[in-house]
Amino acid sequence: MKKTILVAGATGNLGSMICMALVKRGAVVKALVRPESDAEKIALLVKNGIEPITAQYSDHTSLANACEGVDCVVSALAGLEEVIVDHQSALLDAALKCGVKRFIPSDFCTDYNPLVQGENRNFDLRRKFKAYIDGTTIQATSIFNGAFADILKYNTPMLDLKNKTIGYWGEKADWKLDFTTMENTADFTAEAALKDETPRNLHIASFQVSPNMLAQIVNSINNEHFTVHKISDLDQFANFIKQQRADNPAGEMELYAKWQQAQYMYSMFTTQHPTLDNEIFGQTAWTTAADYLSLFIKKAN
Ligand SMILES: NC(=O)c1ccc[n+]([C@@H]2O[C@H](COP(=O)([O-])OP(=O)(O)OC[C@H]3O[C@@H](n4cnc5c(N)ncnc54)[C@H](OP(=O)(O)O)[C@@H]3O)[C@@H](O)[C@H]2O)c1
Repeated sequence: MKKTILVAGATGNLGSMICMALVKRGAVVKALVRPESDAEKIALLVKNGIEPITAQYSDHTSLANACEGVDCVVSALAGLEEVIVDHQSALLDAALKCGVKRFIPSDFCTDYNPLVQGENRNFDLRRKFKAYIDGTTIQATSIFNGAFADILKYNTPMLDLKNKTIGYWGEKADWKLDFTTMENTADFTAEAALKDETPRNLHIASFQVSPNMLAQIVNSINNEHFTVHKISDLDQFANFIKQQRADNPAGEMELYAKWQQAQYMYSMFTTQHPTLDNEIFGQTAWTTAADYLSLFIKKAN
């Protein structure tokens, strides 16, 4: 029998890709959307055979109606405490009420389990929801994808296309960083959602590359010289981020405040996926670093 999957955050970047990956795999897909969700994006979901269900996250009856007959809830919501803790908890309560067996929370990040509370604000929110979901009877699956590979396009200190530099912190020029394309994440998440059960935590990466490896690949693509350089020690970086955060209280209300982006890079240089579950379902065509980087490195020159 076809599985029915409810996707929250379905009009978002990752959520819409998860919906399409589920449709491709023959699932019945329902999209939980809000009255204020983007109408054009909903229309696109409908065009692809996805049933939108409109509900406010404060409306427990509508949330429960949305969860009726659902095998797995996938959340690709993005936001701060109200979204990651409050809205996901309301959705989880509705799923539990309807006997939904499985729930994939909107983790989709570096594995925060080995990290210290307080080091990364957005991970702390996920940890708070994890404490709640792990106290319930639902089977939770967290998908840890490191960073979306898109970060490599945005001239961060990790790969600065304008200045042709690749930066790192600590003595970590050979430290492997986990990157996953959004498409690979969506495909893998769809596979996970359609299983009867999976391990609690799944670690994936389209590619794992160190700063030195990144330089080799980038240099071979465009035949130019990117310089690999140490930015600072990790302790200095941590202190710098703390200061940035203290100086910018308005950032507490921003999802991707500058210091939060720095916290993300700090996390990538302090934890990595020791093993990958990439082949556990055997259905995702993983993008290589060279293939991904050549999509935009050539265009940048
Ligand atoms: N690892 C990484 O490098 C990385 C990078 C970026 C994002 N992420 C993570 O990936 C996941 C999806 O992110 P994304 O970039 O696809 O997000 P996105 O495009 O911003 O979409 C998120 C969706 O969440 C819903 N949403 C937004 N605000 C909401 C609110 N106040 N209340 C309820 N729902 C709200 C909306 O969906 P509806 O309108 O359909 O309800 C929105 O389309 C998140 O967990 C995000 O943190 C990871």
